[in-house]
Amino acid sequence: MRVCVIGTGYVGLVTGACLAHIGHHVICVDNNEEKVKLMKAGQSPIFEPGLSEIMQAAIASGKIEFTTDLGAGVNHGEILFIAVGTPPLPTGESDTRYVEAVARGIGTHLNGGYKVIVNKSTVPIGSGDWVRMLVLDGIAERQSEKVPVGAGNIKEEFPLTQLAEFDIVSNPEFLREGSAVYDTFNPDRIVIGSNNPKAIAMMKELYTPIVERQFAEEKALPPVPIVVTDLSSAEMIKYAANAFLATKISFINEVANICDRVGADVTQVAKGIGLDSRIGNKFLQAGIGWGGSCFPKDVSALVHTADDYGYEAHLLKAAVSVNQRQRLIGVEKLQQVLKILKGKTVGLLGLTFKPDTDDMRDAPALNLIEHLNRLGTKVKAYDPIVSQSGMRHGLSGVMVETDPERLADGCDALVLVTDWKQFQHLDYEKMASLMNNPVMIDGRNFLDREKLQQAGFYYVGVGR
Ligand code: UDX
Repeated sequence: MRVCVIGTGYVGLVTGACLAHIGHHVICVDNNEEKVKLMKAGQSPIFEPGLSEIMQAAIASGKIEFTTDLGAGVNHGEILFIAVGTPPLPTGESDTRYVEAVARGIGTHLNGGYKVIVNKSTVPIGSGDWVRMLVLDGIAERQSEKVPVGAGNIKEEFPLTQLAEFDIVSNPEFLREGSAVYDTFNPDRIVIGSNNPKAIAMMKELYTPIVERQFAEEKALPPVPIVVTDLSSAEMIKYAANAFLATKISFINEVANICDRVGADVTQVAKGIGLDSRIGNKFLQAGIGWGGSCFPKDVSALVHTADDYGYEAHLLKAAVSVNQRQRLIGVEKLQQVLKILKGKTVGLLGLTFKPDTDDMRDAPALNLIEHLNRLGTKVKAYDPIVSQSGMRHGLSGVMVETDPERLADGCDALVLVTDWKQFQHLDYEKMASLMNNPVMIDGRNFLDREKLQQAGFYYVGVGR
């Protein structure tokens, strides 16, 4: 099928590259020329395992192209994905101005053939109809006519659409950073929100190779379930999934804080409750809280939507406030061990919000750095990705070291912030010998406590 993906951020680029990989003809559009140049050369602007490889293969086989020309992309695609960012505004609402510009832009370029316009960006609930209206606005702009905006049968109300037949579909993504390519080929489900049978059929056709697990790691599994629903429910599914997962983590973090006080071990508790199939064992890892580009933004946006519709989302607000407190659990633990933090040096192991990504958006490390700076503590850090990239220069209040031993040198304590796999295999004996005080606050309960103790560390976990 002919696909156009507009916006080559995380979601757009992974979607475009994976759809090209399964055999579709994809044009990716982005208005950033530098980025387009980079991608044409087969380089991914984001760090994501396996992504450059599939991009390069798709470029070589002619299945993917990159351009800044929206018109060319719209003309090419029978399915048009809107995959631009919806970053959070200070109020917690999503900033949808990029979606707005793209939807209008699509309208001004539609060329008459039937198109399915897919919202892949996480957009506020109700955006399907809004995007439809904006596309119509774009068409009208081109026709230099005023669009009648309002409910009712658009086709009767607005015959210009006969020139450009289209339907809007919501098709949220559930990709995790660091395993986005894997997640695309091995999804738990595919959600298609639309009330139009033709659009639904085209979306099903698009995903057939994935549904049939042709590119999955485990090919013997049953087909991937497809959830076909109305637009608003599909939009809600995305928010509800992220809000549930974030709440689940806040829940186990709250349990961890109680464990700390009563002398129980949250890792054992998580195991014990996770074996109950109604609860499940995933996302029960206590630690310094959730961050990243999705959970904080989506939970806040859902709280905001609820507010807009006259409902106060108490549980979601509590999940956010537990998380805000949890992000500073490292400071609390440092104070318990070191007492005064002023004039001390603390080293952070990891900066990104989770491993296998270079993403620092809403990373708990940033809150830690800011708070420790405020307390007069010197902060150093080592991160396998940030330390090796230009990103380290953009960070303030922290000295980014080039290796873990330099980090340990002269520190009064270390805090493990990100559960990078390689942190399980550092030379902790050597690191302990370089520290003023070999203290390890394991903010993810990720290290082998006994091994650390044998290496000479005073080990402190979260909730254990
Ligand atoms: C998440 C969702 O998983 C994905 O489906 C959605 O599309 C985008 O948001 P991502 O932000 O990449 O993906 O990361 P994820 O692996 O879900 O982790 C989110 C945060 O929760 C991280 O900060 C992680 O460290 C934290 N986390 C996760 C925990 O603290 N404990 C856990 O048990 C799991």
